[in-house]
Amino acid sequence: MNRSGRRKVTVVGAGFVGATAAQRIIEKGLADVVMVDIAEGIPQGKGLDMMESGPVEGFDMTIVGTNGYEATAGSDVVVVTAGIPRKPGMSRDDLLKTNAGIVKAVCEQVAKYSPEAIMIVVSNPLDAMCHVALTASGFPAHRVIGMAGVLDSARMRHFIADAAKVSVKNVQAFVLGGHGDTMVPLMRYATISGIPVDRFLDKATIDAIATRTRNGGIEIVNYLKTGSAYYAPSSSAVEMVDAILNDRKELLPCAVHLSGQYGAKDLFLGVLAKLGKEGVEQIIELELLPEEQANLDKSIAAVKELVTLL
Ligand code: APR
Repeated sequence: MNRSGRRKVTVVGAGFVGATAAQRIIEKGLADVVMVDIAEGIPQGKGLDMMESGPVEGFDMTIVGTNGYEATAGSDVVVVTAGIPRKPGMSRDDLLKTNAGIVKAVCEQVAKYSPEAIMIVVSNPLDAMCHVALTASGFPAHRVIGMAGVLDSARMRHFIADAAKVSVKNVQAFVLGGHGDTMVPLMRYATISGIPVDRFLDKATIDAIATRTRNGGIEIVNYLKTGSAYYAPSSSAVEMVDAILNDRKELLPCAVHLSGQYGAKDLFLGVLAKLGKEGVEQIIELELLPEEQANLDKSIAAVKELVTLL
């Protein structure tokens, strides 16, 4: 909370994901924003440019850009997008070492200036970066949350709506597991206005949607060539910010620290979690079919392997 009593969100990384997230936060009136980046002038310039859109867009939230952490002090939520994005031919895992160093340095500063904050990690490879963030911040596990599932699920919901020719507002669906090729789109729970999706789409179409969802990130990278997705990733991070700031108790698929759920211990993995003012307030553990659990086990093994490389 600001001294003025207004809510405060820090976004670290003023690149494509960070700046777009910051823009969405102030335009939605969720909080004042401090945007931090190592690149001199970039957060300051983008911040001022966004402030100057306020009179036209009609928002009165403030945003400041900075290269230091002093101005971030006392943030309610911190969104970490710092790092390098994925290039064509590069897996999220190739990013591991570089981004681990960046996320560690960032989270130490974040924890120093905002010891009570809830941290949303966006930098990839996501599940591993959540581990780095947890260790570097020293925060309790319920205050470190990874953004992946909301994005992967949003992609899946878009593909379902497109195939079934219905409004995306009617589509509920979610993805479990790691944010990588082993993610598990849980088609059995996908519905259109509460009706199972297999009443609208045949098996081949459903299977193709699951595959396209798993490859959703790389599909965009292959188009953009010089960077990765940022519109849907920033929307997804901001939905989590909103759920926390407004204590919505929203069930969202997020990377959270598991302590035995789904057979995973001391590991960040995408599951349905209730987000509110405390961060992760509940972890929903569903009964899975043997085949679904087997797929999730593969995802657990992939995340474990990545963490050992840290
Ligand atoms: N501290 C602060 N900012 C940093 C640091 C650091 N130590 N290191 C790098 N940055 C900044 C860069 O200067 C850059 O502005 O992080 C920003 C990253 O922005 P982009 O390169 O535009 O990448 P973006 O597309 O936003 O993706 C950021 O999110 O989705 C993930 O895989 C993606 O890991 C990547 C992250």
